[in-house]
Amino acid sequence: MTQDTFTIRDNSTGKEADFPLRRGTIGTSVIDVSTLNKQMGLFTFDPGFVSTASCKSAITYIDGEKGVLLYRGYPIDQLAENCSFLEVAYLLMNGELGNKAEQAEFEHEIGQHAMLHEAMRSFIDGFHYDAHPMAMMVGIVGSLSAFYHSELNMDDPEHRRISAMRMLAKMPVIAAACHRHSIGYPFVYPRADLSYCENFLNMMFSLPSQKYIDKDNYISPVAVKALNLLFILHADHEQNASTSTVRLASSTGANPYACIAAGIGALWGPAHGGANEAVLSMLEEIGSVDRIPEYIAKAKDKNDPFRLMGFGHRVYKNFDPRATIIRKACYEVLEQIPGNDPLFDLALALEEYALKDAYFVEKKLYPNVDFYSGIIYKALNIPVDMFTVMFTIARTSGWVSHWLEMMAEPGQRIGRPRQVYTGKELRNFEPPKK
Ligand code: SDX
Repeated sequence: MTQDTFTIRDNSTGKEADFPLRRGTIGTSVIDVSTLNKQMGLFTFDPGFVSTASCKSAITYIDGEKGVLLYRGYPIDQLAENCSFLEVAYLLMNGELGNKAEQAEFEHEIGQHAMLHEAMRSFIDGFHYDAHPMAMMVGIVGSLSAFYHSELNMDDPEHRRISAMRMLAKMPVIAAACHRHSIGYPFVYPRADLSYCENFLNMMFSLPSQKYIDKDNYISPVAVKALNLLFILHADHEQNASTSTVRLASSTGANPYACIAAGIGALWGPAHGGANEAVLSMLEEIGSVDRIPEYIAKAKDKNDPFRLMGFGHRVYKNFDPRATIIRKACYEVLEQIPGNDPLFDLALALEEYALKDAYFVEKKLYPNVDFYSGIIYKALNIPVDMFTVMFTIARTSGWVSHWLEMMAEPGQRIGRPRQVYTGKELRNFEPPKK
């Protein structure tokens, strides 16, 4: 990072100090305020981290004004067009696309790690049948360190690599097991002859009574192509809330499974990855195009907690490039999978209406990645309460990439923000009055 200096002057005391202005390869420059408290006895204050860069990273770049998203420098639309999810996962984790041999070895190892410890089945069976799959995901992933004691020396790069591969490999298996548990169906084991996305669909939907894989049923090329696309688009997104959670947990030296479980918990929130499930519920509540104005008014009403789910973004003040790609994919999927979905027509009408409304235009609220993804998941018969689990599978590739990047960086320190204290001043104890 190149640097100039930035002078901060406290006008109340006349005290001033210089702070390095650091630039990355592209994008917004940063003022390095790490010595602010030492030099000037001050903290910065930035609730929600709107103007705060928490780390250096070479993985993903976003330009919110231009609606640009790059994974390791490659535009998201080019990767979506030319790669499988595991090829993108390899890129995020290793910094470069793998050649044929490297990718084959990577995918072979993913297959080797896909099986779950058999004792996990009774762990999963311990959940009530109607447990939300995300609640199960948080618990099961957090418990992985109870099953996989080896390779947990975080100072050993090979242990870190194996842990990352284990999580990438096992996430779809755990996700499908959660679904099968919730519907009382037997678990389906991963198969070495199926690709990552074929395996997931097979583990989700295949029935023991079936004599053969009914490729025209649920492992259709349309479904596999759509899943690869959705997983690529959800793979990583810079320092979003869940990735930042993984990084903060990792800064304490906690084991990787606990750190990823923390990220899953953060992703679940409706302001973040939980939005895709909330969009479907919102569309079903709106129900018809003629009720759109009523809900747009609710979204604009400051006294109404209702927000247009799937709209707005902390970084994108233009179209989320992922939403644009998913919207296009919706047309393709719904053309090929019988039964057009009226919710897609409703979503299109809602987007058109909102983007003509002065409130949404002025606040630069555009559809984000979660607005259309549920339409495709629904077309693939993925249950709505599994939508954020789908986001979890994909984002695991981003989380483990950031974890690997962070753990490999020398001089890592524990993350420990400060605060502005607004409580009582010093006072001596007096027993409460009767
Ligand atoms: C993801 O960070 C990432 O990169 C996340 C993600 C990823 O890949 O990891 O992209 C995935 O989480 C996408 C976002 C999914 N969430 C939703 O769709 C939920 C609905 N959206 C909002 O809750 C909101 O837009 C956020 C949470 C996404 C962004 O919140 P910010 O940046 O804190 O914005 P804000 O709440 O300060 O809103 C700014 C203004 C406010 O109005 P004013 O107070 O200025 O008058 O815009 C309004 C908000 O009221 N606003 C909305 C709105 N989103 C913002 N008004 C109505 N509907 C909305 N959806």
